[in-house]
Amino acid sequence: MHNTAFITGAGQRVGKEVAEHLANNGWNIGIHYNRSSPDAENLAKHLGERYPLQKFATFGANLMNDSQTENLVRQVIAEMGRLDLLINNASVFDPGTIRETSPAFFDEQFGVNLRAPFILTRQFALNCSEGLIINFTDTRITNNSSGFAAYSLAKKALWELTKMAAYELGPSFRVNAIAPGLTLPPADKDEEYLRKLAAKIPMKRPGGLDPILKSIDFIIENDYLTGQILFCDGGENLGKTV
Ligand SMILES: NC(=O)c1ccc[n+]([C@@H]2O[C@H](COP(=O)([O-])OP(=O)(O)OC[C@H]3O[C@@H](n4cnc5c(N)ncnc54)[C@H](OP(=O)(O)O)[C@@H]3O)[C@@H](O)[C@H]2O)c1
Repeated sequence: MHNTAFITGAGQRVGKEVAEHLANNGWNIGIHYNRSSPDAENLAKHLGERYPLQKFATFGANLMNDSQTENLVRQVIAEMGRLDLLINNASVFDPGTIRETSPAFFDEQFGVNLRAPFILTRQFALNCSEGLIINFTDTRITNNSSGFAAYSLAKKALWELTKMAAYELGPSFRVNAIAPGLTLPPADKDEEYLRKLAAKIPMKRPGGLDPILKSIDFIIENDYLTGQILFCDGGENLGKTV
């Protein structure tokens, strides 16, 4: 029997790469999307052709909508038969200092980056007897730079949720976090943008997807690991170099 992973925001970018990686390792994948319906459908079709003995299905939901979010875990179990791994990957990443952050903007950053992972964690715990959760936070949680104030605060809180959930839900559930650094450029920037930023981190180069995929494998395989964070950031969490 193949285990089932449900990945939020899996239609493109990091989530899509994680889906392809886990599919290659024998997992069934529930592919969540919001706006990227064609990308998600194409991914499910492509994976289904490549791994015909595994199941791939898509699940659309706006993670700002509580009832849509609350229903997702039950929908995945109904469609896929089981749920073993929840990956909270979906995110909104928008700039704004504290002065620039309106209550509505704050709520959007917190809604997708913290509230939805909280709701999905709760539903997973209520509907399944055991499982694994991996939360995507960010190396930014280690500093107080306020250029992305609401995003950074939400990701700091997601790391706190990771530990609290590991504490409450063990031993049936393990809950861990991954904190990427320079991975993929924002949609409006290119690799050169990341390479310039990398000049100020200890490893002096962007990491790409490789450290994230290796960290996911490590978290899955290490069944005594819970409440932990893996920084996939080339040492950026230690501070910028001169
Ligand atoms: N990229 C990096 O270098 C980097 C660095 C540090 C941390 N991270 C973290 O790593 C994770 C993946 O990064 P990424 O750059 O691949 O993320 P991303 O492209 O910014 O977002 C991933 C997906 O989140 C979904 N999403 C956004 N708003 C949503 C909503 N209201 N409802 C449902 N889904 C929504 C979108 O799905 P649709 O397209 O279907 O709408 C989007 O494709 C994120 O948690 C991010 O914070 C990334």
